[in-house]
Amino acid sequence: MAALRTVVQIWRLQRFPKALGSVRFLSSSFKASDITVERSKTLQPKPDPSTLVFGKQFSDHMLTISWSKEDGWATPQIKPFQNLSLHPASSALHYSIELFEGMKAFRGVDGHVRLFRPMLNMERMYRSTERCCLPLFDKVQLLECIRKLVELDQEWVPYSTDASLYIRPTFIGTEPSLGVSRAGHALLYVIVGPVGPYFATGAFNPVSLLADPSYVRAWRGGVGEFKIGGNYGPTIAVQSEAQKQGCQQVLWLYGDQEEITEVGTMNLFIYWTTEAGERELLTPPLDGIILPGVTRQSLLDLARKWNEFRVTERTVTMKELLGALNSGRVLEVFGSGTACVVCPVGSLLYKGQTYKIPTMSNGPDLAKRFHKELTDIQYGRQQSDWTTLVA
Ligand SMILES: Cc1ncc(COP(=O)(O)O)c(C=O)c1O
Repeated sequence: MAALRTVVQIWRLQRFPKALGSVRFLSSSFKASDITVERSKTLQPKPDPSTLVFGKQFSDHMLTISWSKEDGWATPQIKPFQNLSLHPASSALHYSIELFEGMKAFRGVDGHVRLFRPMLNMERMYRSTERCCLPLFDKVQLLECIRKLVELDQEWVPYSTDASLYIRPTFIGTEPSLGVSRAGHALLYVIVGPVGPYFATGAFNPVSLLADPSYVRAWRGGVGEFKIGGNYGPTIAVQSEAQKQGCQQVLWLYGDQEEITEVGTMNLFIYWTTEAGERELLTPPLDGIILPGVTRQSLLDLARKWNEFRVTERTVTMKELLGALNSGRVLEVFGSGTACVVCPVGSLLYKGQTYKIPTMSNGPDLAKRFHKELTDIQYGRQQSDWTTLVA
């Protein structure tokens, strides 16, 4: 009986694909086993890991997978790194039908190359894809395509436990016509390139933040929880404003209560003593205006496993933070993200007044512990099921 039901379901899927919306695309995802590989004839020299600048150098190959409404997903291709040729009306260029991911491959102390919790990136990319009305795909198949690209370009993964290979999966609408509507053509591609350490000197450098409630990164009902290009372009002007005022990054506030949301392109953590005298690690909740960071999730998972202090996801306001600073209860404030793992915050400029944050004078013990724990896993110094072996 169950077999008969399945046969009927497949028949229905084939006959009435449109009625099934996104299921139609899912059932016709590309497959990693179909991948074709065209090797580059000229391989570029690999840069010295100590000279790397973020996002400026790329490996010899890229992955491309195109899709159209008529033909569905094409065969995934690995080919020499090259420019894209796009119709000038492409919907990514006009309406920002674009999303991306940021993840890394690490060369372990044992010489093996590993990815760090890559399924979390695939899941986030899938959610961004749904939100951009781009065609859905099988996350496991995409991860396997990326694994194959990194395997082919594995010599680009720096032989260094400070550097890594940055992986940038990107998905754009290439619909060659104007009109704000669902793209009928799309291109998913992945480029990779070596990157150096976030803290060039090897030491933790604290950042200074501008907290100006007149700027908003994301809002409830908006798209702040998705990693889409449209969330990033408009932040550059605010970042320049922060720099003009002598700060390095922006502390993003939201709403009348001035909720603290994120810092630059990082999630935010506060480690403090509560008014009740309890040690607590606090981060804003995933309520639609926060990007669900892979590092954020990992810090929460570690802290909950350690079970040494209270771990809380809740809304926190500027008033609460300033109150805690004034009463000396703040221990550490830091950002978290793939680029830096953790980044200490040293000061805050708010309504013309600078507030010192004692993160560095408190070690920062917790930020350093998180950094060590995650990098030990990433560089294979500690065995963990959070890594996926590439080569
Ligand atoms: C806005 C924003 N918040 C937080 C993060 C940190 O996310 P992850 O830890 O996955 O790098 C990023 C980086 O992707 C980001 O762009």
